[in-house]
Amino acid sequence: MGANASREAVAGIDGQCQPLIRVQNLIKYYHEELILKDISVDIEEGDLVSIIGPSGCGKSTFLRCLNGMEVLDCGSVNINGISLQRKTLGAPMQDFNTKAHALRQQVGMVFQTFNLFPHKTLLQNVMMAPMIVQKKSRDEAEAIAVKFLDKVGLKTFSHRYPIQLSGGQQQRGAIARALALSPKVMLYDEPTSAIDPTRVDEVLEVMRDLDKEGMTQIVVTHEMRFAKDASDYIIYMEQGEFVEISDEDEIFIAPKDERTRKFLKKFM
Ligand SMILES: Nc1ncnc2c1ncn2[C@@H]1O[C@H](COP(=O)(O)OP(=O)(O)OP(=O)(O)O)[C@@H](O)[C@H]1O
Ligand SMILES: [Mg+2]
Repeated sequence: MGANASREAVAGIDGQCQPLIRVQNLIKYYHEELILKDISVDIEEGDLVSIIGPSGCGKSTFLRCLNGMEVLDCGSVNINGISLQRKTLGAPMQDFNTKAHALRQQVGMVFQTFNLFPHKTLLQNVMMAPMIVQKKSRDEAEAIAVKFLDKVGLKTFSHRYPIQLSGGQQQRGAIARALALSPKVMLYDEPTSAIDPTRVDEVLEVMRDLDKEGMTQIVVTHEMRFAKDASDYIIYMEQGEFVEISDEDEIFIAPKDERTRKFLKKFM
């Protein structure tokens, strides 16, 4: 199954109303190497989508294209009405920086390593984006930071420095920091892979809670149990293509594509 066929497999697409996220014919090269091969997908508001696939297949690159951290070589990414578009390969892109900046306001991103500033407390880390990006006052930013630290269960840890927190707590702090800008979409790139296995569930639980509240989330993960239990659907990616998009029952019980079957057999 190719990327376009996969796209049709996403439930609820009627071609009429625009989904929250629409990616069309996305192509990305690094130097001469084709990394993303004509990817198209629609993601509806409130969906939790997991992306799985072997190392180097382009999962992180795809996420980075979604929030304007990478310049796409062709195709389009549209999130909540903000569009990055390149009609033909290498054609000039008007206003990329302005649009990418606007897109990043809609999209929170959480990385494998938490990237909290070590010389700032958790509270200060979370306050920074509202103050710098949204020009909130210190009091407003603090109220926002406290709200989201409370949401991820870290209110009582607000005045600790990252080094005084476990990996799971730091990652929950990173999620609070991303939420502080009130994004429409949250992207996670292997959010639990650098965490002690005993702390993984507390991070996944935050993502589950956000799902219940209707947050749209895309998660690159090796946590098959989470992908299976929590996702609305799972994308299997290989060599820059979305090979298969299916719900968890289908993909784990009866994958449609031989490549998916082979990957899951090796992985599980
Ligand atoms: N900045 C870059 N410059 C050149 N090549 C890159 C760059 N970033 C990634 N690549 C290459 O692009 C391909 C896809 O990388 P990407 O990081 O998206 O894979 P991935 O699926 O996220 O892998 P992993 O599961 O190991 O994180 C790889 O071959 C990688 O070496
Ligand atoms: Mg990656």
